[in-house]
Amino acid sequence: MAKKKTTKKKTSKKTTTKSTKKDEMEPDNESDGEEMVDEEDVKELVEEELKEEKHTGMENTQNFSKISPFVVDSLNYDVKDLPGVGAATLKKLEDAGYGTLQAIAMTPQKTIMEDTGLGEKTTASIIQAARETLQLTYVTADQVWERRKHLPKITTGSDKVDELIGGGIEVGGITELFGEYRTGKTQICHQLCVNVQLPRSEGGLEGRALYIDTEGTFRPERLIQMSEAKGLDYKKVLKDVFVIRAHTSEHQVLLVKNSIDTISKEKINLIIVDSLISHFRSEYISRGTLATRQQLLNQHIHDLIRLGNIYPELAIVVTNQVQAKPDAFFGDPNRPTGGHIMAHASTLRLYLRKGKAEQRIMIVKDAPHLPEGEAVFTITEDGIGDA
Ligand SMILES: Nc1ncnc2c1ncn2[C@@H]1O[C@H](COP(=O)(O)OP(=O)(O)OP(=O)(O)O)[C@@H](O)[C@H]1O
Ligand SMILES: [Mg+2]
Repeated sequence: MAKKKTTKKKTSKKTTTKSTKKDEMEPDNESDGEEMVDEEDVKELVEEELKEEKHTGMENTQNFSKISPFVVDSLNYDVKDLPGVGAATLKKLEDAGYGTLQAIAMTPQKTIMEDTGLGEKTTASIIQAARETLQLTYVTADQVWERRKHLPKITTGSDKVDELIGGGIEVGGITELFGEYRTGKTQICHQLCVNVQLPRSEGGLEGRALYIDTEGTFRPERLIQMSEAKGLDYKKVLKDVFVIRAHTSEHQVLLVKNSIDTISKEKINLIIVDSLISHFRSEYISRGTLATRQQLLNQHIHDLIRLGNIYPELAIVVTNQVQAKPDAFFGDPNRPTGGHIMAHASTLRLYLRKGKAEQRIMIVKDAPHLPEGEAVFTITEDGIGDA
Protein backbone atom coordinates (compact mmCIF):
# COMPACT_ATOMS: atom_id res chain seq x y z
CA MET A 1 0.00 0.00 0.00
CA ALA A 2 1.27 3.42 -0.86
CA LYS A 3 2.12 5.38 2.20
CA LYS A 4 2.32 9.04 2.97
CA LYS A 5 5.71 9.95 4.27
CA THR A 6 7.35 13.30 4.38
CA THR A 7 10.66 13.91 2.68
CA LYS A 8 13.65 12.67 4.61
CA LYS A 9 16.92 14.45 4.76
CA LYS A 10 19.88 12.17 4.34
CA THR A 11 22.66 12.02 6.82
CA SER A 12 25.92 10.27 6.24
CA LYS A 13 27.74 7.68 8.24
CA LYS A 14 31.31 7.82 9.31
CA THR A 15 33.27 5.32 7.36
CA THR A 16 36.93 6.08 7.38
CA THR A 17 39.69 5.06 9.70
CA LYS A 18 42.11 7.47 11.24
CA SER A 19 45.02 5.95 9.41
CA THR A 20 43.38 5.49 6.00
CA LYS A 21 40.95 8.26 5.28
CA LYS A 22 39.55 6.80 2.09
CA ASP A 23 36.75 8.59 0.36
CA GLU A 24 33.71 6.57 1.08
CA MET A 25 30.08 6.75 2.00
CA GLU A 26 27.29 4.30 2.23
CA PRO A 27 23.77 4.60 1.07
CA ASP A 28 21.97 5.66 4.19
CA ASN A 29 18.37 5.13 4.95
CA GLU A 30 18.32 6.98 8.18
CA SER A 31 16.06 9.96 8.42
CA ASP A 32 16.96 12.83 10.64
CA GLY A 33 14.32 12.29 13.24
CA GLU A 34 12.23 15.17 11.93
CA GLU A 35 10.07 12.86 9.93
CA MET A 36 6.38 13.41 10.47
CA VAL A 37 4.33 10.60 11.87
CA ASP A 38 2.75 8.47 9.27
CA GLU A 39 -0.95 9.17 9.22
CA GLU A 40 -1.80 5.63 8.18
CA ASP A 41 0.21 4.32 11.08
CA VAL A 42 -1.70 6.37 13.61
CA LYS A 43 -4.98 5.48 12.00
CA GLU A 44 -4.11 1.84 12.28
CA LEU A 45 -3.06 2.16 15.88
CA VAL A 46 -6.26 3.95 16.77
CA GLU A 47 -8.21 1.13 15.26
CA GLU A 48 -6.20 -1.54 17.03
CA GLU A 49 -5.89 0.06 20.39
CA LEU A 50 -9.48 1.09 20.65
CA LYS A 51 -10.43 -2.38 19.45
CA GLU A 52 -12.66 -1.16 16.68
CA GLU A 53 -13.99 -3.84 14.47
CA LYS A 54 -12.68 -2.45 11.24
CA HIS A 55 -9.03 -2.94 10.47
CA THR A 56 -6.88 -1.48 7.73
CA GLY A 57 -5.41 -4.90 6.97
CA MET A 58 -2.07 -3.32 6.26
CA GLU A 59 0.97 -5.44 6.93
CA ASN A 60 3.35 -3.41 8.94
CA THR A 61 6.58 -4.64 7.45
CA GLN A 62 6.08 -3.92 3.77
CA ASN A 63 7.47 -1.21 1.53
CA PHE A 64 10.20 -0.17 3.87
CA SER A 65 13.88 -0.24 3.37
CA LYS A 66 16.11 -1.22 6.26
CA ILE A 67 18.81 0.51 8.13
CA SER A 68 21.88 -1.48 7.18
CA PRO A 69 24.79 -1.58 9.56
CA PHE A 70 27.67 -1.45 7.11
CA VAL A 71 30.43 0.05 9.09
CA VAL A 72 32.72 -1.88 11.38
CA ASP A 73 35.57 0.54 11.92
CA SER A 74 35.87 1.72 15.46
CA LEU A 75 36.49 5.40 15.17
CA ASN A 76 37.24 8.02 17.68
CA TYR A 77 37.66 11.41 16.17
CA ASP A 78 37.54 13.70 19.11
CA VAL A 79 35.53 16.88 18.89
CA LYS A 80 38.83 18.68 19.58
CA ASP A 81 39.95 17.59 16.09
CA LEU A 82 37.47 20.11 14.64
CA PRO A 83 39.31 22.91 12.89
CA GLY A 84 38.58 26.53 13.82
CA VAL A 85 36.28 25.96 16.78
CA GLY A 86 36.74 28.07 19.90
CA ALA A 87 37.09 26.75 23.44
CA ALA A 88 33.64 27.95 24.57
CA THR A 89 31.92 26.21 21.66
CA LEU A 90 33.92 23.05 22.24
CA LYS A 91 32.84 23.03 25.85
CA LYS A 92 29.17 23.44 24.92
CA LEU A 93 29.47 20.53 22.50
CA GLU A 94 31.24 18.30 24.99
CA ASP A 95 28.88 19.18 27.83
CA ALA A 96 25.93 18.22 25.64
CA GLY A 97 27.51 14.85 24.87
CA TYR A 98 28.94 15.64 21.43
CA GLY A 99 32.39 14.35 22.19
CA THR A 100 33.07 12.84 18.77
CA LEU A 101 32.89 14.14 15.21
CA GLN A 102 30.66 11.22 14.30
CA ALA A 103 28.06 12.41 16.80
CA ILE A 104 28.09 15.88 15.27
CA ALA A 105 28.09 14.70 11.66
CA MET A 106 25.17 12.36 12.19
CA THR A 107 22.84 14.40 14.35
CA PRO A 108 20.26 16.76 12.90
CA GLN A 109 21.24 20.41 13.13
CA LYS A 110 18.11 21.28 15.09
CA THR A 111 18.89 18.65 17.72
CA ILE A 112 22.45 19.89 18.18
CA MET A 113 21.17 23.46 18.50
CA GLU A 114 18.65 22.44 21.15
CA ASP A 115 21.17 20.33 23.05
CA THR A 116 24.02 22.84 23.03
CA GLY A 117 22.36 26.23 22.81
CA LEU A 118 24.60 27.09 19.84
CA GLY A 119 23.27 29.30 17.07
CA GLU A 120 22.17 28.19 13.62
CA LYS A 121 25.18 29.47 11.69
CA THR A 122 27.74 28.12 14.14
CA THR A 123 26.05 24.72 14.27
CA ALA A 124 25.80 24.48 10.48
CA SER A 125 29.48 25.25 10.03
CA ILE A 126 30.48 22.81 12.76
CA ILE A 127 28.46 20.03 11.12
CA GLN A 128 30.02 20.85 7.77
CA ALA A 129 33.52 20.82 9.27
CA ALA A 130 32.83 17.50 10.99
CA ARG A 131 31.62 15.93 7.75
CA GLU A 132 34.60 17.27 5.83
CA THR A 133 37.04 15.99 8.41
CA LEU A 134 35.41 12.58 8.32
CA GLN A 135 35.41 12.65 4.51
CA LEU A 136 32.03 11.05 4.18
CA THR A 137 31.52 9.81 0.68
CA TYR A 138 30.53 6.73 -1.33
CA VAL A 139 31.89 3.24 -0.87
CA THR A 140 31.66 0.48 -3.44
CA ALA A 141 29.62 -2.64 -2.75
CA ASP A 142 32.76 -4.78 -2.47
CA GLN A 143 34.02 -2.52 0.30
CA VAL A 144 30.69 -2.90 2.06
CA TRP A 145 30.90 -6.67 1.60
CA GLU A 146 34.44 -6.72 2.97
CA ARG A 147 33.17 -4.99 6.08
CA ARG A 148 30.08 -7.12 6.44
CA LYS A 149 32.19 -10.29 6.28
CA HIS A 150 34.02 -9.13 9.37
CA LEU A 151 31.01 -7.68 11.16
CA PRO A 152 31.27 -8.81 14.76
CA LYS A 153 28.29 -10.65 16.24
CA ILE A 154 27.26 -11.55 19.76
CA THR A 155 26.30 -15.15 20.38
CA THR A 156 22.87 -15.72 21.89
CA GLY A 157 24.06 -18.81 23.72
CA SER A 158 22.19 -21.13 21.38
CA ASP A 159 24.04 -22.44 18.30
CA LYS A 160 20.73 -23.08 16.57
CA VAL A 161 19.54 -19.53 17.09
CA ASP A 162 22.92 -18.09 16.09
CA GLU A 163 22.79 -20.11 12.89
CA LEU A 164 19.24 -18.91 12.22
CA ILE A 165 20.20 -15.25 12.53
CA GLY A 166 23.44 -15.43 10.58
CA GLY A 167 25.94 -15.97 13.38
CA GLY A 168 24.57 -13.94 16.28
CA ILE A 169 23.27 -10.49 17.14
CA GLU A 170 24.71 -7.99 14.69
CA VAL A 171 26.28 -4.68 15.66
CA GLY A 172 25.30 -1.33 14.14
CA GLY A 173 21.57 -1.94 13.88
CA ILE A 174 18.51 -2.65 15.95
CA THR A 175 17.51 -6.21 16.79
CA GLU A 176 13.94 -6.39 18.04
CA LEU A 177 12.78 -9.29 20.21
CA PHE A 178 9.03 -9.48 20.36
CA GLY A 179 6.64 -11.98 21.81
CA GLU A 180 4.08 -12.67 24.48
CA TYR A 181 4.89 -12.52 28.18
CA ARG A 182 7.43 -15.06 29.49
CA THR A 183 8.65 -16.02 26.04
CA GLY A 184 12.23 -15.16 27.02
CA LYS A 185 12.81 -11.62 25.78
CA THR A 186 14.25 -10.42 29.08
CA GLN A 187 16.20 -13.66 29.53
CA ILE A 188 17.91 -13.21 26.16
CA CYS A 189 18.75 -9.61 27.08
CA HIS A 190 20.41 -10.84 30.28
CA GLN A 191 22.30 -13.52 28.40
CA LEU A 192 23.59 -11.00 25.87
CA CYS A 193 24.92 -8.84 28.74
CA VAL A 194 27.08 -11.80 29.73
CA ASN A 195 27.95 -12.94 26.22
CA VAL A 196 29.05 -9.51 24.97
CA GLN A 197 31.87 -9.79 27.51
CA LEU A 198 33.22 -13.03 26.07
CA PRO A 199 36.36 -13.05 23.94
CA ARG A 200 35.73 -12.51 20.24
CA SER A 201 36.80 -16.08 19.55
CA GLU A 202 33.91 -17.24 21.73
CA GLY A 203 31.20 -15.04 20.28
CA GLY A 204 31.67 -11.93 22.37
CA LEU A 205 33.01 -8.46 21.78
CA GLU A 206 35.08 -8.19 24.96
CA GLY A 207 32.82 -5.27 25.73
CA ARG A 208 30.34 -3.96 28.22
CA ALA A 209 26.57 -3.62 28.27
CA LEU A 210 24.16 -0.82 29.06
CA TYR A 211 20.73 -1.99 30.16
CA ILE A 212 17.78 0.40 30.17
CA ASP A 213 15.16 -1.37 32.23
CA THR A 214 11.69 0.09 31.81
CA GLU A 215 9.75 -2.66 33.57
CA GLY A 216 11.88 -3.35 36.63
CA THR A 217 12.68 -6.88 35.51
CA PHE A 218 16.47 -6.67 35.45
CA ARG A 219 17.90 -9.29 37.84
CA PRO A 220 21.62 -9.46 38.68
CA GLU A 221 20.93 -12.94 40.10
CA ARG A 222 20.35 -14.16 36.57
CA LEU A 223 23.65 -12.66 35.41
CA ILE A 224 25.39 -14.51 38.24
CA GLN A 225 23.80 -17.83 37.25
CA MET A 226 24.58 -17.29 33.58
CA SER A 227 28.18 -16.23 34.29
CA GLU A 228 28.84 -19.21 36.52
CA ALA A 229 27.43 -21.55 33.91
CA LYS A 230 30.10 -20.22 31.55
CA GLY A 231 32.85 -20.39 34.15
CA LEU A 232 33.16 -16.59 34.26
CA ASP A 233 33.94 -14.51 37.32
CA TYR A 234 30.50 -13.12 38.03
CA LYS A 235 31.88 -10.20 40.04
CA LYS A 236 33.64 -8.95 36.95
CA VAL A 237 30.63 -9.64 34.76
CA LEU A 238 28.35 -7.60 37.04
CA LYS A 239 30.78 -4.68 37.02
CA ASP A 240 30.63 -4.55 33.25
CA VAL A 241 26.88 -4.19 33.01
CA PHE A 242 25.53 -0.67 33.55
CA VAL A 243 21.89 -0.69 34.52
CA ILE A 244 19.38 2.09 34.78
CA ARG A 245 15.68 2.06 35.40
CA ALA A 246 13.59 4.27 33.12
CA HIS A 247 10.52 5.49 34.97
CA THR A 248 8.63 7.21 32.19
CA SER A 249 8.87 7.45 28.41
CA GLU A 250 10.34 10.91 28.79
CA HIS A 251 13.01 9.55 31.12
CA GLN A 252 13.70 6.69 28.74
CA VAL A 253 14.19 9.09 25.81
CA LEU A 254 16.58 11.16 27.90
CA LEU A 255 18.59 8.10 28.96
CA VAL A 256 19.14 7.07 25.37
CA LYS A 257 20.10 10.60 24.36
CA ASN A 258 22.55 10.84 27.24
CA SER A 259 24.02 7.39 26.60
CA ILE A 260 26.04 8.78 23.70
CA ASP A 261 28.82 9.81 26.06
CA THR A 262 28.71 6.75 28.32
CA ILE A 263 29.02 4.44 25.34
CA SER A 264 32.38 5.83 24.31
CA LYS A 265 33.69 6.42 27.85
CA GLU A 266 32.74 3.00 29.21
CA LYS A 267 33.41 0.97 26.06
CA ILE A 268 29.84 -0.19 25.68
CA ASN A 269 29.21 -2.69 22.88
CA LEU A 270 25.61 -3.53 23.69
CA ILE A 271 22.68 -1.32 24.58
CA ILE A 272 19.41 -2.88 25.64
CA VAL A 273 16.03 -1.24 26.00
CA ASP A 274 13.69 -3.69 27.74
CA SER A 275 10.98 -2.89 26.84
CA LEU A 276 10.99 -0.16 24.23
CA ILE A 277 7.35 0.70 23.92
CA SER A 278 5.61 -0.16 27.20
CA HIS A 279 5.91 3.32 28.73
CA PHE A 280 4.72 4.93 25.52
CA ARG A 281 1.75 2.60 25.37
CA SER A 282 0.70 3.15 28.95
CA GLU A 283 1.14 6.92 28.87
CA TYR A 284 -0.51 7.69 25.55
CA ILE A 285 -3.68 5.72 25.51
CA SER A 286 -6.46 7.87 24.19
CA ARG A 287 -7.21 8.32 20.53
CA GLY A 288 -6.15 11.96 20.61
CA THR A 289 -2.64 11.22 21.88
CA LEU A 290 -1.62 8.47 19.46
CA ALA A 291 -0.11 10.82 16.91
CA THR A 292 2.00 12.42 19.63
CA ARG A 293 3.04 9.00 20.88
CA GLN A 294 4.16 7.85 17.45
CA GLN A 295 6.00 11.11 16.90
CA LEU A 296 7.92 10.70 20.18
CA LEU A 297 8.55 7.04 19.56
CA ASN A 298 9.82 7.86 16.10
CA GLN A 299 12.32 10.34 17.50
CA HIS A 300 13.37 7.89 20.21
CA ILE A 301 13.97 5.12 17.72
CA HIS A 302 15.98 7.45 15.53
CA ASP A 303 18.12 8.32 18.52
CA LEU A 304 18.83 4.60 18.84
CA ILE A 305 19.56 4.19 15.13
CA ARG A 306 21.93 7.12 15.33
CA LEU A 307 23.82 5.43 18.17
CA GLY A 308 24.35 2.46 15.86
CA ASN A 309 25.70 4.75 13.16
CA ILE A 310 27.98 6.64 15.50
CA TYR A 311 29.27 3.49 17.18
CA PRO A 312 29.56 0.84 14.50
CA GLU A 313 30.49 -1.83 17.04
CA LEU A 314 27.42 -1.23 19.17
CA ALA A 315 24.62 -3.79 19.11
CA ILE A 316 21.19 -2.38 19.91
CA VAL A 317 18.63 -4.81 21.27
CA VAL A 318 15.08 -3.81 22.11
CA THR A 319 12.13 -5.82 23.29
CA ASN A 320 8.58 -5.33 22.22
CA GLN A 321 5.22 -6.70 23.15
CA VAL A 322 2.65 -8.24 20.88
CA GLN A 323 -0.85 -7.27 20.11
CA ALA A 324 -3.50 -9.58 18.76
CA LYS A 325 -4.64 -8.54 15.33
CA PRO A 326 -8.40 -8.42 15.70
CA ASP A 327 -9.26 -9.54 12.19
CA ALA A 328 -6.76 -12.39 11.72
CA PHE A 329 -8.77 -15.40 10.63
CA PHE A 330 -5.81 -17.69 10.09
CA GLY A 331 -2.19 -17.88 11.20
CA ASP A 332 -0.76 -16.35 14.33
CA PRO A 333 -2.79 -13.27 15.25
CA ASN A 334 0.06 -11.75 17.23
CA ARG A 335 2.16 -8.99 15.87
CA PRO A 336 4.56 -6.49 17.38
CA THR A 337 3.30 -3.19 18.74
CA GLY A 338 4.61 0.14 17.60
CA GLY A 339 3.18 0.15 14.10
CA HIS A 340 5.11 1.08 10.99
CA ILE A 341 7.60 3.21 12.83
CA MET A 342 8.92 0.21 14.74
CA ALA A 343 8.75 -2.04 11.70
CA HIS A 344 10.80 0.45 9.75
CA ALA A 345 13.47 0.85 12.40
CA SER A 346 14.38 -2.74 13.23
CA THR A 347 17.16 -4.31 11.21
CA LEU A 348 16.09 -7.71 12.42
CA ARG A 349 12.74 -8.65 13.98
CA LEU A 350 12.70 -11.84 15.97
CA TYR A 351 9.46 -13.34 17.19
CA LEU A 352 9.51 -15.54 20.29
CA ARG A 353 6.97 -18.20 21.10
CA LYS A 354 6.58 -20.67 23.91
CA GLY A 355 7.31 -24.32 23.27
CA LYS A 356 7.11 -27.30 25.59
CA ALA A 357 8.33 -26.61 29.17
CA GLU A 358 11.64 -24.75 28.97
CA GLN A 359 11.64 -24.69 25.19
CA ARG A 360 11.13 -21.51 23.21
CA ILE A 361 10.93 -20.89 19.50
CA MET A 362 12.70 -18.03 17.77
CA ILE A 363 11.28 -17.00 14.43
CA VAL A 364 12.93 -14.61 11.96
CA LYS A 365 10.17 -12.24 10.92
CA ASP A 366 11.71 -9.55 8.88
CA ALA A 367 15.34 -9.37 7.88
CA PRO A 368 17.07 -7.72 4.92
CA HIS A 369 19.41 -10.65 4.29
CA LEU A 370 17.96 -13.72 6.06
CA PRO A 371 15.27 -16.11 4.94
CA GLU A 372 12.30 -16.60 7.25
CA GLY A 373 12.94 -19.54 9.53
CA GLU A 374 12.80 -20.73 13.10
CA ALA A 375 14.93 -22.40 15.75
CA VAL A 376 14.16 -24.02 19.08
CA PHE A 377 16.17 -23.04 22.15
CA THR A 378 15.84 -23.45 25.90
CA ILE A 379 15.78 -21.20 28.94
CA THR A 380 17.24 -22.90 32.00
CA GLU A 381 18.97 -21.76 35.15
CA ASP A 382 22.18 -21.65 33.11
CA GLY A 383 20.62 -19.25 30.63
CA ILE A 384 19.92 -19.57 26.93
CA GLY A 385 20.97 -22.85 25.35
CA ASP A 386 20.15 -25.42 22.71
CA ALA A 387 17.16 -27.71 22.99
N1 LIG B 1 16.32 -19.07 36.97
C1 LIG B 1 15.62 -19.55 35.94
N2 LIG B 1 15.72 -20.84 35.62
C2 LIG B 1 15.02 -21.34 34.59
N3 LIG B 1 14.18 -20.63 33.82
C3 LIG B 1 14.05 -19.34 34.11
C4 LIG B 1 14.73 -18.73 35.17
N4 LIG B 1 14.40 -17.44 35.21
C5 LIG B 1 13.52 -17.26 34.21
N5 LIG B 1 13.29 -18.40 33.56
C6 LIG B 1 12.37 -18.61 32.43
O1 LIG B 1 12.17 -17.41 31.75
C7 LIG B 1 10.79 -17.10 31.70
C8 LIG B 1 10.60 -15.61 31.77
O2 LIG B 1 11.10 -15.10 30.60
P1 LIG B 1 11.28 -13.53 30.39
O3 LIG B 1 11.29 -12.85 31.69
O4 LIG B 1 12.43 -13.37 29.49
O5 LIG B 1 9.92 -13.20 29.64
P2 LIG B 1 9.60 -11.95 28.73
O6 LIG B 1 9.46 -12.44 27.35
O7 LIG B 1 10.57 -10.87 29.00
O8 LIG B 1 8.16 -11.59 29.29
P3 LIG B 1 7.46 -10.19 29.57
O9 LIG B 1 6.73 -9.83 28.31
O10 LIG B 1 6.52 -10.48 30.69
O11 LIG B 1 8.50 -9.20 29.94
C9 LIG B 1 10.18 -17.80 32.87
O12 LIG B 1 8.84 -18.07 32.63
C10 LIG B 1 11.01 -19.06 32.93
O13 LIG B 1 10.51 -19.98 31.99
MG1 LIG C 1 10.50 -9.06 29.99
